[in-house]
Amino acid sequence: MATMSLRHALVTGANRGIGLGFARQLLVDGWHVVATCRQPGRATDLNMLAGEHPGRLHVLPLDVAEPKSHAELVRELPLVLDGRDDDRPGRIDLLVNNAGVLHSGERFGSLSAANFEDSLRINAIGPLLFTQSLAPSLSEGARILNLSSRLGSITLTTRFGTPSYDISKAALNMATVLLARALEERGIVVVAISPGWVRTDMGGSDGEVAVDDAVAGMLQVASRLQPVDNGRFLDWQGKLVPW
Ligand SMILES: NC(=O)c1ccc[n+]([C@@H]2O[C@H](COP(=O)([O-])OP(=O)(O)OC[C@H]3O[C@@H](n4cnc5c(N)ncnc54)[C@H](OP(=O)(O)O)[C@@H]3O)[C@@H](O)[C@H]2O)c1
Repeated sequence: MATMSLRHALVTGANRGIGLGFARQLLVDGWHVVATCRQPGRATDLNMLAGEHPGRLHVLPLDVAEPKSHAELVRELPLVLDGRDDDRPGRIDLLVNNAGVLHSGERFGSLSAANFEDSLRINAIGPLLFTQSLAPSLSEGARILNLSSRLGSITLTTRFGTPSYDISKAALNMATVLLARALEERGIVVVAISPGWVRTDMGGSDGEVAVDDAVAGMLQVASRLQPVDNGRFLDWQGKLVPW
């Protein structure tokens, strides 16, 4: 499917880091963008971006860990998308499940349930349930990027690092495959995608990849996705990542 035929994108966790990079690049590429975040009132960069792209960027509240918030977003969506000069009003062509959390400093011997519950809710269960809520608003043939990580690869795990994060991303990978199976009859393609080690608050300043490069790579991957890719685990350059 060509990028040119896609028009509406929704990005979660769009107020900073990779999510903000997605919103910015999608606007440059001519998309209508629904940028969601927990606190729109405090999303300075996003609100500035909205001013630079009048009518093409809508900033809406969404806490991916809260199913009530999913329902509210879905209720509001037609209000920002309807009435456009568009043959498919209210339809999302690209969903970027980007919001995520990493609790650092975990040590074997002092692990507790709280970080696991939080990470699973935000990184795995949230994207699965939010996608379920949004499914009626997705266009036939839509693309979904679930921001995963090489740290969620069981095969590539060689050290005890960030267990709550790693387990939640492995769970997101399973959610990706399940969503792929649930949505394939509508021509929707869902992938887990690793952005590389990116210089953000989460990735830190030593990260190997700039936000803009990671985002450009992932959008190129999205534009080339075919039904055969449904449920795959890819990196930001389109290479397969082992599960
Ligand atoms: N950076 C890397 O090297 C790297 C590598 C692999 C994968 N990833 C993945 O890429 C994605 C983006 O990472 P990043 O580096 O941009 O992280 P980041 O700079 O820490 O930004 C995380 C974003 O997620 C949002 N978020 C957290 N919990 C949320 C919730 N419950 N509801 C809605 N939004 C929530 C944050 O919003 P607030 O401002 O409200 O907290 C923020 O916008 C994540 O899924 C991450 O796991 C990143």
